[in-house]
Amino acid sequence: MRYVSKSEAETHQIAFTLGRHLVSGDCVLLYGELGAGKSVFARGCARALGVKDVMASPSFTLMQPYDGDVFPVRHFDLYRLSGEDELYYSGLEEQIGAEGVSLIEWPQQADVCPPVRVEVDIEKGENDVRIIDIVPVNMENREQEIFAALRPFEAETQN
Ligand SMILES: Nc1ncnc2c1ncn2[C@@H]1O[C@H](COP(=O)(O)OP(=O)(O)O)[C@@H](O)[C@H]1O
Ligand SMILES: [Mg+2]
Repeated sequence: MRYVSKSEAETHQIAFTLGRHLVSGDCVLLYGELGAGKSVFARGCARALGVKDVMASPSFTLMQPYDGDVFPVRHFDLYRLSGEDELYYSGLEEQIGAEGVSLIEWPQQADVCPPVRVEVDIEKGENDVRIIDIVPVNMENREQEIFAALRPFEAETQN
């Protein structure tokens, strides 16, 4: 389903709304060009899961763990992942699937596809407009709950 955000705050709110439906074992895959708002979205999800720490960019560590209210939250930024990081790459799937929720920017860099996931694709529009496509996969009855919660942000359908 497609949603419209007109500000950073609104993207944060959309992400927060999704985040309230995430449980341990879930992954959020964040797609979109540099500056699209993937990190903003990750922070919104993390906040909903009780992360109090300020989330900086994990670019230099590839992954930064945080304490959530009931389980850990991991923030991945795989933008700089390269062939030289083979060792990290081999342990990546385990890290992503560990207890808690994984929020992953640039998942295409590692070709990861966790079974229970939310695919989020953020497209830049004019100025501060962002079109955010959110697709829950293998989340069973939570999918309907998520769609219902996000309904206020739905993009107007063009006829
Ligand atoms: N609607 C919006 N949603 C998210 N970010 C926005 C929006 N409008 C403007 N911005 C700005 O775009 C930038 C997004 O940065 P960031 O989340 O780090 O992008 P990414 O992680 O995708 O590279 C921020 O500077 C933010 O203030
Ligand atoms: Mg980012």
